[in-house]
Amino acid sequence: MRVTRVVRHTDEVSSYVLQRVDGQPLPACEAGAHVDVYLPGGLVRSYSLCGDPARTTESYEIAVKREDNGRGGSRALHMWAREGEILRIGMPRNQFRLAPDAPHHLLLAGGIGLTPLVSMAHALHARGASFTLAAFARSAQHLPLTRALDHAPWRDRVQVHFDNVPSPTNAATVVAQAPAGSHVYFCGPEGFMAHVRTACQTWAPERVHFEYFSAPTKTGTDAAAPADGDAFEVVLARRQQRLQVAPGKSIAMVLQGAGISVDTVCEQGICGSCLTPYLDGAPDHQDMCMTEAERATHVAICCARSHSPTLTLDL
Ligand code: FES
Repeated sequence: MRVTRVVRHTDEVSSYVLQRVDGQPLPACEAGAHVDVYLPGGLVRSYSLCGDPARTTESYEIAVKREDNGRGGSRALHMWAREGEILRIGMPRNQFRLAPDAPHHLLLAGGIGLTPLVSMAHALHARGASFTLAAFARSAQHLPLTRALDHAPWRDRVQVHFDNVPSPTNAATVVAQAPAGSHVYFCGPEGFMAHVRTACQTWAPERVHFEYFSAPTKTGTDAAAPADGDAFEVVLARRQQRLQVAPGKSIAMVLQGAGISVDTVCEQGICGSCLTPYLDGAPDHQDMCMTEAERATHVAICCARSHSPTLTLDL
């Protein structure tokens, strides 16, 4: 892919438009999709697409916040991805889809978590669906994608809230005021995610959709914990092979150790790159990216453990 346009939105956030070098159409993506970006130094990072899904066959657009104290991926991208540069990306994946039908869709964004929700707003507008996009940021200077919001044909559906402007409204009050039957979608930093998850904890799970940037700090039972838990055995049905997964090892590590190539990008249960179908057993799902329906058929092998002594994978 060639970087065809770079736009600086804030001191920390820039967006990048990517087009195929050979000019061929790209795979069309639904709102909520993300791509893995391969960076110098062997780094791979997943970024949500933030453009209009109707235009994804022409180009993909990502917006990236430079995390100066992060793991290095965003810094590398900001330094290296100039207009005209070539970079390699993976096929788009989507673990954060819009519900096909809902009386109202409530999109809640914390900071750079706005990126997939802008794409969702485009899609909902095109569908003629009822929706609200509420964006929360530290201040107006920290709100990413301001121009995209200002020029969107759905600008009247957007609310912005700044931490430095006293207001009785926060994400929890927006959730509390949502019309009956709404679906909520949220993405943002860990504190924001915890706040919204608490606010909608009485909602039916199928109406609650979220995507994490990174695995949340382990609190209780829902955080990814790839290395914890008892030993178990994985059975690879098609290969007719049995492998032991010791405490401290993930299934993905064990498969890689046996010379089996597996795709793992985040290794935190959030990107979906390692999802693998299973045929038997009781997985202890530790991921943060699958719906309950997906969990009935797949495991995230970077972090899942097993409640049953054996877990049979369709591998
Ligand atoms: S590697 Fe990202 S979910 Fe497993």
